[in-house]
Amino acid sequence: IADVKGGPNEGLDRVGQTVVVMGWVRTLRLQSSVTFMEVNDGSCLSNMQCVLNPEAEGYDQVDSGSIVTGASVCVQGTIVESQGSKQKVELKVNKIVLVGQSDPSYPMQKKRATREFLRTKAHLRPRTNTFSAVARVRNALAYATHKFFQENGFVWVSSPIITASDCEGAGEQFCVTTLIPSSQEVTDSPVDGIPKTKDGLIDWSQDFFGKPAFLTVSGQLNAETYATALSDVYTFGPTFRAENSNTSRHLAEFWMIEPELAFADLNDDMACATAYLQYVVRHILENCKEDMEFFNTWIEKGIIDRLTDVAEKEFVQLTYTDAVELLLKTNKKFEFPVAWGCDLQSEHERYITEEAFGGCPVIIRDYPKEIKAFYMRQNDDGKTVAAMDLLVPRIGELVGGSQREERLGYLEYRLEELKLNKESYWWYLDLRRYGSVPHAGFGVGFERLVQFATGLENIRDTIPFPRSPGSAEF
Ligand code: 4AD
Ligand code: MG
Repeated sequence: IADVKGGPNEGLDRVGQTVVVMGWVRTLRLQSSVTFMEVNDGSCLSNMQCVLNPEAEGYDQVDSGSIVTGASVCVQGTIVESQGSKQKVELKVNKIVLVGQSDPSYPMQKKRATREFLRTKAHLRPRTNTFSAVARVRNALAYATHKFFQENGFVWVSSPIITASDCEGAGEQFCVTTLIPSSQEVTDSPVDGIPKTKDGLIDWSQDFFGKPAFLTVSGQLNAETYATALSDVYTFGPTFRAENSNTSRHLAEFWMIEPELAFADLNDDMACATAYLQYVVRHILENCKEDMEFFNTWIEKGIIDRLTDVAEKEFVQLTYTDAVELLLKTNKKFEFPVAWGCDLQSEHERYITEEAFGGCPVIIRDYPKEIKAFYMRQNDDGKTVAAMDLLVPRIGELVGGSQREERLGYLEYRLEELKLNKESYWWYLDLRRYGSVPHAGFGVGFERLVQFATGLENIRDTIPFPRSPGSAEF
């Protein structure tokens, strides 16, 4: 359908051509002499309006009620100019084949199902306008991400999902457990997929082949090893956090993009994050016009103008110290009180980007070292580190990054100060032992980026199968 209707004149150049459309029936309107059937194949938001006369081959299946909403069909016909005002062209059908019937219980019949309801139908929700548009924009953002980094000489590195290190040091990891039956004879299990031994016991070995292991919270430390060999690199893959936060911005499983720049400082890092965000936003504005118009009308009014500003205007930069001063000066009442040294809460972050700077993305830099991770480079003041967070309206923190501590002595001291197990970081410390270089990087939460780009209120609607406390059904 995108192939026919996606061009500049919405299919008028294809008038007279015979085409075959394969997709799912969205609506069916039976009139006395003619039937209108809207078919969608997911290639774009638009349906193909199919006009069926009783002479069309296979029409009896429409007449007898075999073809209904939700059914899959294969339709052959001629592209003609549409009489209606909703579309430029439609399909005058000469043959229709029912590929798969749809049971009357099909739950996607109702026009305006809530997004809460659709979360319980994660297997069918991609058949709705909203979720097919999200899927295409998510795909375009992933494509633009690779395109941006590839065009700028970065090498994509696959960081491991199973790891022993806790990059962020926050103890928010999921533990990996091995299921090894202690006896060869495994009988039917009462729990699907979990082997049961002969004596009836389920054997849980609480580790990864004898060693502790976790699902990664970030690929950064691994990316650093490649950045100190190949120069600029990036990762793009799933990460996991066992924080029990039921918010509209947190997932237990989310995708992260983590560039790592060699021979770079915090200013280079902030410049890269800005260029990246502007590039991917421009990409979807140019390449996902139909879907972005849909979000602009139905999800967040004015989002296209706001994203255009993001792509074109300079971002605001301020230090953490200045941000705290700004928060202390305002008359606005916050739930969490502000003082130098506190972690900025989402209400503070939103105030800064939405109210203090009128919806412009804001980069805050130089945070107190006490609230940041061990690997961040200490500033000369001895109190702050070269960290930065990029905040955007509605969401707050979209990007978190820093210049890394490249000085062996400082890094060892910091590990000791935080009582982290220095021995387990032997390989990470080696990078500072052998040809250390100033380097910096950041992490973009991919689902928060999709949320930002589409205007969706809840992060659970930005990923096909959201994982959050209590949801791992599909
Ligand atoms: O700020 P974070 O924790 O930074 C890191 O993990 C660094 N190692 C990144 C780096 O420097 N390479 O996470 C980075 C971003 C956040 O800004 C946020 O957008 C997203 O990841 N994020 C989450 N997104 C969804 N659900 C969660 N639970 C998230 N936690 C972080
Ligand atoms: Mg962060």
